[in-house]
Amino acid sequence: MALICPGCGFDAPADFAFCPKCGKPLAPAAAVPSSDASSDRRPVTVLFADLCGFTALSETLDPEDVRALQGELFALMSSAIQRLDGFVEKYVGDAVMAVFGAPVAHEEDPERAVRAALELHERVARLSARWLPLLKRPLALHVGINTGPVVAGHIGSQREGAYAVTGDTVNAASRLQNAAGPGQTFVSEATWLLTRHAFSYEPMGGLALKGKAQPLPAYRVEGALQAPASARGLQAHGLAAPMIGRDAELGALMAAFAQMQAGQTQLVRIVAEAGSGKSRLLSEFLARLQANGQLADTALRSAACSSLGERTYGVPAALLRDAYGLAADESAATARQKIAAALAALGADDEETARISALLGYVLGFDPDEARTRHLDPEQLKHQIFLAVQAVVERRLLAGALLLVVEDLHWTDAASVELLRALLDRLPAQRFMLLVTQRPVAELDVLAAGATPQTLLLLQPLSATHSASLLDALFGSGARTLPAALQQRVVEHAGGNPLFLEEMVRTLIADGALSREHERWVLHAQAAALNVPQTIHGLLLGRIDRLPPPARQAMQEAAVIGPQFAEDLLREVASDAPALPDALRVLLAAGLLEHSEGDYRFRHGLIHEVAYGNLLARRRSELHTRIGEVLERRCGGVPRQLQDLQALGHHFRLGADKPRGARYLVAAGDWARGIYANADAIRHYELALQTLHDCGDPQAQSVSVRERLADVMVPAGHIADAAEHYAAVREAFAQMSDDPAQARVLRKLSGLRWEAGERGEALRCLEQGLTLAERGPAHIECAKLYQERGQLAFRSGDNLGALQWTQRALQHIEGLAAHGDEERRDAAAVVALSL
Ligand SMILES: Nc1ncnc2c1ncn2[C@@H]1O[C@H](COP(=O)(O)OP(=O)(O)OP(=O)(O)O)[C@@H](O)[C@H]1O
Ligand SMILES: [Mg+2]
Repeated sequence: MALICPGCGFDAPADFAFCPKCGKPLAPAAAVPSSDASSDRRPVTVLFADLCGFTALSETLDPEDVRALQGELFALMSSAIQRLDGFVEKYVGDAVMAVFGAPVAHEEDPERAVRAALELHERVARLSARWLPLLKRPLALHVGINTGPVVAGHIGSQREGAYAVTGDTVNAASRLQNAAGPGQTFVSEATWLLTRHAFSYEPMGGLALKGKAQPLPAYRVEGALQAPASARGLQAHGLAAPMIGRDAELGALMAAFAQMQAGQTQLVRIVAEAGSGKSRLLSEFLARLQANGQLADTALRSAACSSLGERTYGVPAALLRDAYGLAADESAATARQKIAAALAALGADDEETARISALLGYVLGFDPDEARTRHLDPEQLKHQIFLAVQAVVERRLLAGALLLVVEDLHWTDAASVELLRALLDRLPAQRFMLLVTQRPVAELDVLAAGATPQTLLLLQPLSATHSASLLDALFGSGARTLPAALQQRVVEHAGGNPLFLEEMVRTLIADGALSREHERWVLHAQAAALNVPQTIHGLLLGRIDRLPPPARQAMQEAAVIGPQFAEDLLREVASDAPALPDALRVLLAAGLLEHSEGDYRFRHGLIHEVAYGNLLARRRSELHTRIGEVLERRCGGVPRQLQDLQALGHHFRLGADKPRGARYLVAAGDWARGIYANADAIRHYELALQTLHDCGDPQAQSVSVRERLADVMVPAGHIADAAEHYAAVREAFAQMSDDPAQARVLRKLSGLRWEAGERGEALRCLEQGLTLAERGPAHIECAKLYQERGQLAFRSGDNLGALQWTQRALQHIEGLAAHGDEERRDAAAVVALSL
């Protein structure tokens, strides 16, 4: 098996540790997870590529040629896909199916898939040119791409089975591929939505597809945008916020800049997790320098590393391209001319210009000028390259200060870091500043290991107050758009990460929960669901995928307990308890968990949800049951606190024994009602009803739960809802021919009508109830109805009638006296009420 160099795409032999072409360390292609990480659920982007007219072609060709063509085709397709860290799931005939986002997710898997498609077309065009003399007609691919949820993992028993993804997402990708013409790529709406900032598309309308009721909207990829828009921010929705907080960090940046202006070389690193606001802080800093006129005598050169990987010397190359105005696809000749002109302008003579531009050619990735460098061994060559870059920087520094800005240095190549470090070491007392942004990766600490003064800005999560201010600022001053409860949930889910905040707002808009009406934002669902934003799902899942398997497993199992969990409970349910202490340490160090009141807590609610959603539904259900059983055992089967009932209800509801969950939820509702926490009681009863509905209500509990729900809705003031529930409950009791129960509900309905001022209706309900209650054997409900009837008479000013009804109630109770204890107690209660 060959390894694909992440730097230059070269197919290197499998036993090579470094690429023989560019020297970058070779990582094995996307590793298949070990057997202990079983299947999981995840969003992925699936790509199907197929050679048009292959069957016809193979009929006319010699089988050996077909074989050779197939071999070449598969090799080029695999290398293009693996270079972008895609996973080649299988070859079917002449088609390839690739997956981006499994086994390991990236933050821009859909973009990777579309880039892979463009590259596949390009490579096949070259292959076609080579084979044209034999084939007599050009070859072309047609490609289909779709993004959506799948189940991913080994099929069959553990590792022997092939790693594969399953789900309707795959079928749609295959259908899009069938619909695309030669040389075309069709993507689904889901993929289009996530990549339209980076590619141009032509909408193809809805494709009518076999076996699908709804047409599938498709978009044809036209090409990559020259200047891709940022996928970040909410400007497209007219929402923007000033930078919140970060005053101290901005101050530190200004101070470092002043030190640099005073002649002291500076290194500044802005370090934080994705989405914390590194780029934002940087752009605010540069904007302030610009506004203050402080960039007048300072040359600013910028580079940004790509998440798709950087080739050797990627960073200096990008800085040089910025300095000399070189386009990404500039020809070598024009580039040399531009470099020579710039060096000459900085005072270099012809000899120096020729020498430096030859060496910079290496950095820029052009074919080297053999004549000048042929005699150098690799070590010497590297030395010469460093000297050349240093010479360019020194020339620049003669003309004024130099600020080099490198974004996302965590994606850089090793050679670039070494070169930057050498520059700092060799230019200690200059008006020279290197400012980088990076996510926390230890490898980059070497940059700061020299003597250059370093300012390290570790961006902390925004406080809850700052997070709330950011949300308020987004929607503009004035009325708060998000109600307090929703705002608080958004803030908690984001855990102080501004990107997560913005993306949750974007999702609320995309889901239709928030919309703009006449210049105002309106929230349509007060309790809008906070779905994990698709735009950052891969980013979050990627962090989980990259964990060592025991930590990943512990995190998923902890997620089933909840956003906050106790270690001892996790230990009881974990599949690998001995590995737990280490796993928790890893998760704390990775910033995914934090300590909270003796327990652990997920740092971001969103990470919790992604970890939970990553588990197969079956496994989630097993774990919920296990957790429920441990909790039940711990309280000896007699929960003594409301939160115990809630937790038991929650876990059993999501486990296999749903009716048990519903019973706990009802008990929690009763408890809450007992302490007049009516809103909580409503919530628990509603959840119990939902649970019973979901499992088909095998023990027919729903009717009684619904009656309790209506009972508590009355004091909570939800009269219309209560009346609706009572009516439905009455109907259900009628179906069961349970007259006393029907009569009871009619009595409650009567009370509602009376309170609503509908006296006639109230009376009618009571009469109906009485008819039902009187026709069966004597029952306490009958006495209650008489008594209620007396109340109505009394309130209507009919004192005599009231007395007569009350007497009937008493007589009825006396008649019941011979019955069981419970009836007598009830009867006594009615007597007490009557008096
Ligand atoms: N302090 C802040 N106030 C207001 N908005 C912010 C703040 N910090 C970040 N944002 C916004 O949050 C989003 C994410 O921030 P940014 O892109 O700067 O993150 P980052 O740390 O650079 O992430 P990455 O590691 O992925 O590059 C951006 O849209 C940015 O404008
Ligand atoms: Mg950034």
